[in-house]
Amino acid sequence: MQRTPLVAGNWKMHKTVAEGLQLAKAMLPGLQALDGVESLICPPATALMPMSALLDGSGVALGAQNLHWEAEGAFTGELAPQMIAEFCSYVIIGHSERRAIFGESDQAVQRKLAAALDAGLAPILCVGESLQENEAGRAAEVLTSQLRAALSGVTLNKPGALVVAYEPIWAIGTGKAATPEDTNTLLRNVVRPTLAGLFGDEIAGGMRVLYGGSVKPDNAAAFFQQDEIDGALVGGASLTAPSFVGIAQAAQ
Ligand code: PGA
Repeated sequence: MQRTPLVAGNWKMHKTVAEGLQLAKAMLPGLQALDGVESLICPPATALMPMSALLDGSGVALGAQNLHWEAEGAFTGELAPQMIAEFCSYVIIGHSERRAIFGESDQAVQRKLAAALDAGLAPILCVGESLQENEAGRAAEVLTSQLRAALSGVTLNKPGALVVAYEPIWAIGTGKAATPEDTNTLLRNVVRPTLAGLFGDEIAGGMRVLYGGSVKPDNAAAFFQQDEIDGALVGGASLTAPSFVGIAQAAQ
């Protein structure tokens, strides 16, 4: 099954609008020169509108980092799916920072994911085990349970409607990436079969599964060589043009 690699930059809470536009402009020539790789930028919400104007027609996709599941109402500080869909084609759902710092439950992740799909957005669903769970040998169990909870009641008509990102929590922002081989084994034996159980072999086989957690230009190629790894969700290394473009080039 041929899957176009996706390299996504999650800027988290970094960059003002002016700084973000400057960074995206610096990345654009390198990202536009890519062949057979899709690139995606997920800046803070304040930058979405101007960024969509900058990226319009560039071939570089735009995504948000979060949304609320309700269509509108008294939800101070939140953004509705349709507000995100005005500017974006992707949205990150269930990042471990949202789960851990903002108390997002599996149920909230499920609601957000369903609302994103309804709004025509492609969710990037993040799943991953903690260090403690990993050391206890519970990674497979945690991943299966997070996937089943987030995707319960979800129907998909095409594989491109959803992206999954495997992000072991202990690898995020630590400089300690998982090994490409271990990641590939987990995706092959746990993530892809769980997706196949939910959506069937054809959809699961065409769906992109990314790795995230301390991906850098110098370790990216080793991940992308693995047959189950279809790209990366990049945090820290997406904050400079040479490192993000370097990672995207490694996916080529
Ligand atoms: P990192 O973050 O690349 O800085 O480890 C990855 C992520 O949180 O998506």
